[in-house]
Amino acid sequence: MKNRIISPSLLSANFTRLKEDIKIVEDVGVNRLHLDVMDGHFVPNLTFGPFIINDIRKVTKSHLETHLMIEDPHKYFKDYINAGSDTIIFHYEASKHVLEDLKYIKNKNVKAGIAINPDTDYNNILEFIDYLDYILIMSVFPGFGGQKFIVDTLNTMKNLVKASKNKDILIGVDGGVNLSTIDEVYNTGIDITIVGSGLYGAKNIKERYNQLIRNE
Ligand code: DX5
Ligand code: ZN
Repeated sequence: MKNRIISPSLLSANFTRLKEDIKIVEDVGVNRLHLDVMDGHFVPNLTFGPFIINDIRKVTKSHLETHLMIEDPHKYFKDYINAGSDTIIFHYEASKHVLEDLKYIKNKNVKAGIAINPDTDYNNILEFIDYLDYILIMSVFPGFGGQKFIVDTLNTMKNLVKASKNKDILIGVDGGVNLSTIDEVYNTGIDITIVGSGLYGAKNIKERYNQLIRNE
């Protein structure tokens, strides 16, 4: 069994003490953080932009994966790359030129990823597989933390694990991953889970992380 990787979603952290909330998870072994950017158009919620990411970059060496839930993502890649993102993930549903967008990001020496919504057919992204460093499978409809895991997306996970076998691609799963769903998610063979409320919502975050990670 491969080791579990958890990328905490800072959306569920306390933004008045973000530096401490980052340190808490890094102290137990986290070296990857998930940053949820929402524009109020692609999704019905607004979060933060490059300005905040730039500040986060200053307080951590962790790999920063920036999940862009925004329309016309190509207009903003430059800003999010300059802010210090190590991986840029845009939504398949939001991009008008998927291949061009992937090439742009990779040319800047940043890892490139596509996110797909729960109702998007995974077959749509197969033509881009050789250009992908990362696939983010949404297991909730994007927009909010704390939603219920959509069980049907387990099939997408299994299919994309199969399709990306022997390729240098990480597969992440985002939404509703918590103590009760995490095992079935990792059983599909995916690499990374994004955990927001299932981690930062705990009274004892370190203890919860150790329960979730359960490396064997
Ligand atoms: C949802 C975001 C997620 C969210 C996950 O739109 O993309 O990253 O923060 O939160 P939980 O783990 O609470 O579902
Ligand atoms: Zn996300």
